[in-house]
This record gives sequence, C-alpha cells and structure tokens, in this order.
Amino acid sequence: MGCAISSLGAKAEFGDRSAEEEDAAAAAAVVYPREDQIQMIKDSWKVIRDDIAKVGIIMFVRLFETHPECKDVFFLFRDVEDLERLRSSRELRAHGLRVMSFIEKSVARLDQQDRLEALAVELGKSHYHYNAPPKYYSYVGAEFICAVQPILKERFTSELEEAWKTLFQYVTGLMRKGHQEEGSRQRHLALPPKDGPEKRTSAL
Ligand code: HEM
Repeated sequence: MGCAISSLGAKAEFGDRSAEEEDAAAAAAVVYPREDQIQMIKDSWKVIRDDIAKVGIIMFVRLFETHPECKDVFFLFRDVEDLERLRSSRELRAHGLRVMSFIEKSVARLDQQDRLEALAVELGKSHYHYNAPPKYYSYVGAEFICAVQPILKERFTSELEEAWKTLFQYVTGLMRKGHQEEGSRQRHLALPPKDGPEKRTSAL
C-alpha cells in the first residue's frame, strides 16, 4: 500500500489547524494549473481512462486504509471490516466510477475555467448533503496519484505529479467553498424569520 508521494492530503498539509484556518489555507491553494500542466494532465488522462474502474477502486480502498474515518461517511461501506472484500464490491466500483467520471469531466473542462469552477462548487454543495466534511477531500488527490503511478509507469514524473496535485487542490478548494456556501444557506433556512412568531405574539 506504500506510495512515495509528497504531502497532498497528508496531515502536514492541514495539521491541527482550526476549521477557519483550514478554510483559509484551502482558499489560498486555489491556483489554476498552468498551460503546460493542463497539457500534461490531458496527455496522461488518455492512458488513465482505459483503467478508470480499477483506479476508482484502488483509490477508495487506499483512502479507507489510510484514513479509516472516511469509511464512516459511506452508509454502504461503514460496517465492512475486511477491506479486501470491498475490492470486489459492485457498490464501490460504481462509486469509484462516479468519482472518476467527475475527474474526466474536469479534464474535459480544463479550457473552460468558469465551467469547471461551477462544477466543483456544485459538487461541494452536494457533499454537504452527503455529510462528507471538507477536511477529507484533499486525501482523495493523494490516493488518485498513488493509484495512477503504476498505470503510467515511466510516464509518471514529478512534474506530472505536481500538475495533478494542482488540479486536485483547485477542485477540492472549490468543493470546500461549495460546502461552506451550502452550510450557510441551510443554517439560514433553519433560522426563524425576522418577523417571526415571537414578534407577532408580543404585538398581540
Ligand atoms: C476530490 C474529492 C472528491 C470528488 C471529486 C468526489 C466526487 C463525487 C461524485 C462525482 C459523486 C457522485 C454524486 C454527485 O455527483 O454528487 C460523489 C458522491 C459521494 N461522495 Fe464524493 N468526492 C470526493 C471526495 C469525497 C470524500 C472524501 C468523501 C467521504 C469521506 C465523499 C463521500 C461521498 C458520498 C457519501 C457520496 C454519495 C454516495 C455515492 O454517490 O456513492 N466524497 N462524490
């Protein structure tokens, strides 16, 4: 399960910071991939996409191995103790494919930054409803990079790793933003209206 990649998603990235500090750090990390990085990502995707089902499964089994707390978010997998069993689970395969399809869409929208931004913010909003907290998002990029390394073989370079890291940091930074926006919206909806029952009662 070892994979020698640098700090994306590692504890060192966000350490023991408060939620506010994490949000500020994630917002600062929202840097768009450069032109040369976009090209590298697109070229490598042509190889990765032949194995998307495999990468999706490896990625999530690794995520649950390295960060078991993530498993609790998934209703279907939270009680599965034997991670080897998960490798052959149809549900995990389907979930992995959904995530990989999102990555495919992101790669296809790399030349349309505003569309990619909207997509990632929306995904963050839906993750608010899945009860998947932003502190876990950055782990996924690290596991993706580990999963694609053996597929890309000699094509995998430190520059390519950096390019994918930039894309994941961009997407997960915006997911975090979407999660926050949806959280505030829901809290606002839960508040009683300003001219609510209390005021009306006291006026009687
Ligand atoms: C880069 C990070 C991530 C990406 C790109 C991503 C992408 C997706 C996508 C595309 C879906 C399908 C539904 C939809 O489009 O709304 C989904 C569903 C879901 N995600 Fe994520 N996700 C990420 C991280 C996480 C993490 C870290 C967790 C939990 C620890 C999580 C939990 C869930 C859950 C519970 C669902 C709903 C169940 C399902 O569709 O199987 N996600 N995610």
